[in-house]
Amino acid sequence: MSSGEIRGLPGFRDFFPEDFALRRHIFSAWRRVGARYGFTEYDGPPLEPLELYTRKSGDEIVGQLYEFADKGGRAVALRPEMTPTFARMMAARAGGLAKPVRWFSIPQLFRYERPQRGRLREHFQLNMDIVGETDPLADAEIIAAGIDALRELGLGSADIVVRISDRRLVGALLVAHGIGEVDHVAVFGALDRLEKEGEEGARARLAAAGVEATQATGLLEAMRLPLDALKAAHAGDRPVAEAAGRLSIVFGHLRAAGFDEFLRFDAGLVRGLAYYTGTVFEIWDRRDELRAICGGGRYDNLLLALGGVDLPALGFGMGDVVLAELLKDRGLVPSQLRRVDDYIICVSDAEREAALGLARALRDRGRHVLYDLRARGVGRQFKAAHQAGAARAIVLGPDELARGVVSLRDMASGDEREVAIGTLAGEAEEVR
Ligand code: HAM
Repeated sequence: MSSGEIRGLPGFRDFFPEDFALRRHIFSAWRRVGARYGFTEYDGPPLEPLELYTRKSGDEIVGQLYEFADKGGRAVALRPEMTPTFARMMAARAGGLAKPVRWFSIPQLFRYERPQRGRLREHFQLNMDIVGETDPLADAEIIAAGIDALRELGLGSADIVVRISDRRLVGALLVAHGIGEVDHVAVFGALDRLEKEGEEGARARLAAAGVEATQATGLLEAMRLPLDALKAAHAGDRPVAEAAGRLSIVFGHLRAAGFDEFLRFDAGLVRGLAYYTGTVFEIWDRRDELRAICGGGRYDNLLLALGGVDLPALGFGMGDVVLAELLKDRGLVPSQLRRVDDYIICVSDAEREAALGLARALRDRGRHVLYDLRARGVGRQFKAAHQAGAARAIVLGPDELARGVVSLRDMASGDEREVAIGTLAGEAEEVR
């Protein structure tokens, strides 16, 4: 028999209490924002038929699947993303739901990637998606929700930037520059790496995709223009003008809502997943030290492909791993692991029964209560109260108890006063 330490798998996290506190902090913020935007929460199974991903997600994510045959011989995969599950579930119910539908979820996802800072083999992801609306106002709404999910955690426009583009615009630009015939997926792949690999790398990839050097020059130049200049430079081209116009409307709505300083038009952003059909966006840290925190866009054909229901949809996924790194870098991680309102201290063992009754009454009122689990000196108990970060110490002594009172100490100020034990449990609002 083998013995010794068994370690966890690479890329999988143990959530020690301080890690869990941060996770809960992030999830609570996400849930508050989800609710504020009128989204309702759902979940799906972590294990899905393999085909759910091979049909539409694209090669990159399929190459990272945890896939296997289950004991019944079914080809299955741990979910690497939520969107296909969402599309399947939504298609099953869509007929009976009032549109637009707004759902959010916080699934744990699994991708066999090379673990590194901000990238693991499991992560949690806030998914917010809207179904049944083609108006650009829906695109603005979903981007606003993504920004607010980060603002809720203390991040501002000095910390994060939203890069926005539209695949219809990029597609129209390809046609305008005479590249309509070549494989758009390969060209999108080259453009997606423009920022990462620089212009040289992009040119090499474009050449490999069959784009001539002069066409590549024209396209890359157009990609660098601000949206208005891009529109002006292609004034005679209807598909470009239409797509650019639609994107301008999204920007306009977001500006009207006060998000201007978060936004950046970035024509080269096309995103890795195969199913996007329109607006695409990613949220990055301003210093560009981490990978994207959030990515999403419009996927108007996926519900039809996976569920046989023809409905437009859009949404985003926001990962907890990169976000937690950013919060740590910016000093935005809350230090308090738990809240302790009251620490009950017994002068002698004779007060134990009264202390237990009082603790129960206080806990019933929602207060966070601790006491020593063995008889110790008063000094040691006060020290424990300090270490626990208790807001107040409630001291039960024989003399006080005989008079029906306890001594209440404010741990921050050190002020002490006597309170009738019978009323203590009823004065919850007075303290904290
Ligand atoms: P995605 O861009 O693949 O989109 O992932 C969204 C975010 O999840 C990323 O920006 C990143 O923060 C985080 N993430 C992804 N993979 C990892 C990983 N291995 N480790 C840590 N974090 C990771 C999607 O998944 C789309 N399904 C989002 C979506 C929803 N689009 C529409 N609706």
